[in-house]
Amino acid sequence: MAEYKLELTTGDMQYAGTLDHIFVTLFGNEGQSERTELNNFGIDFTAGKTGTYTIKTKSSLGKLLLVKVEKDPYFVFPEDEWYCSKMVVTTPEGDVILFPCYRWISRGELVELRGGRAMKVFEEEHPLLADHRKKELTLRKSLYQWKIMSEGLLHVSSFKMSELPAEIRLSKSKTDETHYEKMKTGIELKLKGLLGSTERWKSIEDMKKIFWFKKTTMSEYVTEHWKDDDFYGYQFLNGINPNVIKRCSELPPNFPVTEEMVKQFLEKGSSLQKEMEKGNIFLYDQTKMDGIPPRTNNGEPLHVTAGLCLFYLNPENKLMPIAIQLHQQPSEQNPIFLPSDTETDWLLAKMYIKNADYMDHEAVHHLMRTHLVAEACAVATFRNLPVIHPLYKLLISHFRYTIFINSAAREKLLGPDGPLSISSLGYEGLMELMRRSLSEMTYSSLCLPENIAARGLESIPNFYYRDDGLKLWNITASFVKSVVEYYYPSDSEVGKDTELQDWINEIFTRCILGNTASGFPSCFNTVEEVIRFVTMVIFTVTAQHAAVNNGQFDYGWMPNNSLLLLKPPPTTKGQSSMKTILETLPNIGDTVKIQAMEWMLSTNYTDKVPMGAYPEERFHEPALKQMIKDFQAELSYLSEEITARNLQLEVPYTYLNPTQIENSITI
Ligand code: FE2
Repeated sequence: MAEYKLELTTGDMQYAGTLDHIFVTLFGNEGQSERTELNNFGIDFTAGKTGTYTIKTKSSLGKLLLVKVEKDPYFVFPEDEWYCSKMVVTTPEGDVILFPCYRWISRGELVELRGGRAMKVFEEEHPLLADHRKKELTLRKSLYQWKIMSEGLLHVSSFKMSELPAEIRLSKSKTDETHYEKMKTGIELKLKGLLGSTERWKSIEDMKKIFWFKKTTMSEYVTEHWKDDDFYGYQFLNGINPNVIKRCSELPPNFPVTEEMVKQFLEKGSSLQKEMEKGNIFLYDQTKMDGIPPRTNNGEPLHVTAGLCLFYLNPENKLMPIAIQLHQQPSEQNPIFLPSDTETDWLLAKMYIKNADYMDHEAVHHLMRTHLVAEACAVATFRNLPVIHPLYKLLISHFRYTIFINSAAREKLLGPDGPLSISSLGYEGLMELMRRSLSEMTYSSLCLPENIAARGLESIPNFYYRDDGLKLWNITASFVKSVVEYYYPSDSEVGKDTELQDWINEIFTRCILGNTASGFPSCFNTVEEVIRFVTMVIFTVTAQHAAVNNGQFDYGWMPNNSLLLLKPPPTTKGQSSMKTILETLPNIGDTVKIQAMEWMLSTNYTDKVPMGAYPEERFHEPALKQMIKDFQAELSYLSEEITARNLQLEVPYTYLNPTQIENSITI
């Protein structure tokens, strides 16, 4: 007689427990156990609890290979899904083996858990396991399928929100919380008569009173400083789109800024030429917006500018906008606006640059370069890597809720009348903007060190996104290196891992659409290449997403950042007034619709998992548990460092504090 001790843990989330009957069968290389019901005195399988059970066999089953888990109905009660976290089995020989599960289980589902150390496909010795591995991927490939959202864009998961399998659905508590938050926001705006109102704003002051309680320190700061040039420049370094400006050593020929125009804004005795040579001039060129047809509003096309904005890093280390041209081709109707123009001319010019920038931020830098890249990697992971694969174990926590939230964004935010669809570009225009951006997207631009170097921003002062981001990149890279090198001691293991090669090839085909000019890998030849790619994926879904997501409400106050502007941009100077600005801004209903979205997307939800937390124990090997602890310690030191730095700043930069970064894209 042999005895196997099972410690079975049920998840601690709401409704994780079940009253259903649970049966387990153990499979070893020398036989299998009886199908055994796990039934102790009292109630089994309650949320957050671990139960201990014994399975007896005639003799040892040899090396333990698989554990089959089945759930049968309790009387005639309706389906009662169960979230099984993990099972730890102690064999008669004294081996303690971890079988991670971490999924919802429904009645009649085939659930067979693999335990022990992570295994690559070429390491499988037992035919039962090799076969199990193949079947698992066949099943996953039939479940997780690709869909073309729009020609020329990254492929996405084929699921509609209502069809998502349990393992990738939102938790019930988070669903309840988001519904509650949405309802609360909607009721407040309705009570105030703002939601759906087609009235125009009568004053900028009125726009400060949209919400009673929804305020942050930063959103308050924005309402007071949105007109300031130094704060305008600051936002291109540490606001929600720190991804666009570049050092400028030569003016583009279509941006004829003269020395005479900008001399007065530079240090006394200096010149534009000298400042460019010193590396103090920066450019934001919105050329990719040029010619994208905007949305029509009341039968008339709206206006989207493809502007150019020149910045000067002044001796006080402040980045100041010094010249703006709103269209690519210089002409008399396309004057170069200057800080010395009337206050409202200059404000309007800055607002048009920000309008195009905010659409680029939401569609490209937020949605496409983080959410959709993450989704493509997530779908490729589900389809190509079995749960026992080391990279599945490492990456799966970084894709939590991503497919769900992207399906929701496609249906709600980008749906007809959704807050993104009412932007100046509208749905079709945003799709075209993403298409253009994807065709130019390079692998190196997703890798922060190269991105910063390519933009010439290595030494610009007070660039906290870069400072914190590079530290996070390095901490992540060092963690990934330790994990990847543990499983792939040499390049030959990388070459032999056909599942890993299928995974990267599918990402290459579906994410970057096979564009070799992007520099994306289509296969891996070396361990180094795997480390870089996995680092990029984890950085993108954690730090980069936090940088472009978490400040949406802080900075989204309408005059500061508007997705929609109604009037044509100015073509001559001296014609505008504050009335023009109010007429240019969206009506009350559209303003609050967009700001409600910003609130929903930047709010902290309670079941947040911070970067590096890995509450799911997926690795059996002690060495891996230690690597995770080291990673967490590094993140914790960085958090202390950032907190201390922020105490010294007038405007603290908090988005890349590891405690504020989620482990995956969930909103
Ligand atoms: Fe997001």
